[in-house]
Formats: sequence, structure tokens, C-alpha cells
Amino acid sequence: MRDQLEGILRELYEVRDRIKNADELETFRVKFLGRKGILREFAQSFKDATEEEKRTIGNHFNKVKQEVEDTLADLTEKFKKRERVRFDFTYPGKTPLVGYRHLMSLELERVKDIFASLGFSSYGGYEIVTEYENFDSLNIPKNHPARDMWDTLWIDQKEKGEDQTETEKTKYLFRTHTSAYQVKLLKEQGVPLRAIIPGKVFRHEATDRTHDFEFHQIEGLVIDEGANIAELKYVLESFYRAYFGKDLKIRLRPGYFPFVEPGLEVDLGCIFCKGKGCLTCKKTGFIEVAGAGMVHPSVLQESGIDPDSHYGYAFGLGLGRAVMLKYGISDIRLLHSADFRFIEQFR
Ligand code: DAH
Repeated sequence: MRDQLEGILRELYEVRDRIKNADELETFRVKFLGRKGILREFAQSFKDATEEEKRTIGNHFNKVKQEVEDTLADLTEKFKKRERVRFDFTYPGKTPLVGYRHLMSLELERVKDIFASLGFSSYGGYEIVTEYENFDSLNIPKNHPARDMWDTLWIDQKEKGEDQTETEKTKYLFRTHTSAYQVKLLKEQGVPLRAIIPGKVFRHEATDRTHDFEFHQIEGLVIDEGANIAELKYVLESFYRAYFGKDLKIRLRPGYFPFVEPGLEVDLGCIFCKGKGCLTCKKTGFIEVAGAGMVHPSVLQESGIDPDSHYGYAFGLGLGRAVMLKYGISDIRLLHSADFRFIEQFR
């Protein structure tokens, strides 16, 4: 009987390593542990053994049975794991989200290209600027309404009391307009200069469909021999014609900005009704798109340029406004929202 058990054990070892899948394992289970299996059959024959035999062989039998059961448990676990990683190659995969450029980045590139074709270089500027850059340097005195605390996003700075150095006293804010880089750029680059400063600007503002607290401007600054309003008009008209791909007209009206003299409001012939009057242009035939003017002598002076020998013009236009008109977008806030239903339309 002992030999018989040894035989079973040998068979187990032999068969065990050849089992390749769950089906073969089931055959193994039936063969060894089934109702008519090897172990059951052995146990049957075991009934007629003497007490002495039962004690010695019984022990041995239990060990063999345990070994068979352990083998079954191990292999069941192994094939279960395999089952889990098995997958269907024909099942359609998940498309990964691939990044792409945002509408505003793409439009900015187009704008830069158009201005490059008109001889303008592009400069980045800074989003956090000093009070001097945003206001004083641009002839906006202390009591000017544009300096109102509530119109501006100031950087919270610790008051250090009496022994504050001049640098520590400098107040910083999020620029409210790209004009804040005018004087710094002129000091850095000198004249002649033919530049655009595109970038984000920030205002303490309640938002609605046409106003946002964060939006894009394109500043233009030209200090060059012969710079005049006629050229300014030509440049803006050429820009808008190229940008919208339409034969559009520019209209200049007097406007007030402390850093230009004279100051101008720039209107664009309505791109939808071509001046006939529609809902977008509120029946006026024109849409306000930019501020502009001849650079104020005090700004030239601040930049270390002699106002008697140099002239220049400047303009500031809203990029969002132009993009909205071009694509028929009705809410400016969509431009910096993370709403994929909107963003994906412009991939
Ligand atoms: N900085 C002005 C604003 O944000 C726009 C502007 C007006 C810019 C006239 C200019 C300019 O350069 O000459 O409202």
C-alpha cells in the first residue's frame, strides 16, 4: 500500500508540471480528487486494512492528499491570474487625450505674423508691473481715476514701517494694460522702434458677456521718423483687413488716454453688415476695437527720448474682441474657460 501511495505521488509530480490551462486542471482534479478518482479509490481499498496499517498508512495518505490539494489550489490561483490579463485585441482602444494649442494661442500667432509683415517685432512684457510702469510713466497722475484701488489688482505687500528701502516701497500690481511696458521697452530698445506687445491684462471687474477680469491686448508702439496718424490708420486698417480677410474700413474718433496726444478711439467697419447696420454693431455700422494716439511728449521724456526730435504713435487693441468677431463667439469668458465643448471646436 505504501508503494501504491508512492506511485500516486510520483504520478502527481509528473502530471503537475504539464498542466497548461484551466481545462487541463479540471481533468487533473477529476482524476485525483473526483468521485471515482485515484485517491477515493485508494481510500476504498484502505477500508479492509488492519488497524496497524490504517495508522501508519493513514498518516502517509493524508500527506499525499494534502499535496494534491495544495497543487490544485496553487494552479487554480495561477490560471485565475492569467485569465485576468487576457484581453481582446480587437476591442477598440481608448484614444488618449493629446494636447493641442488653444484658440487664443493660435490667433496670437496669426496676429504676430500679420504685424511682422508690417515690420513690427513682438515683445513679451511682464504681467506683474510696478505702479510706476502701469501709471506714472504713462502720464497718469496720482489722482487719476484709473488709479482707483478698486480698479486694480494690487499685490499684497507687507508694510515694513520707517526703515523701508526705496525698492521695498515699490508697489506691484497685475498690469491693467499692455501700455505698462511702453517706457521700459523704449529704454531697453531705444529708437527707432516698431513693436507690438501682446499679452494678458487684468482688471478688477464684474464679468459679463463682453467684459472679463483677465483678457488679451496687443499694444503697438512706433517711434520712428515720419510716424504719424495717417500711418497709424494704414497699419490698423491693414491689420484688420488681413486678420478678417475682408476689405474693411477704419474710423478714427477723438478719445482720451493720458499717454497719447491727441488720443483716438478706433472703430472698425462692422464685419457682418459692412456698415449697413446690424445687431452686432448696434445699427451704427461700426464696432469699437482699439484705443490709439500719438505718444505723449511726457512719455517720450520718461523714456529718455527728446520729444522735440521724435514722434511716435501707439495703439492698444483687444485680441479677444477680434477673435470673437471672427468666429462669432458671443461670450468673452469662454476664451479662458476650460470648457472642452468650446475649446475642441478650434483644434
Ligand atoms: N491702454 C489702453 C487701455 O487699456 C488702450 C490704449 C489706448 C493703448 C491708447 C494705447 C493707446 O497704446 O495709445 O484701455
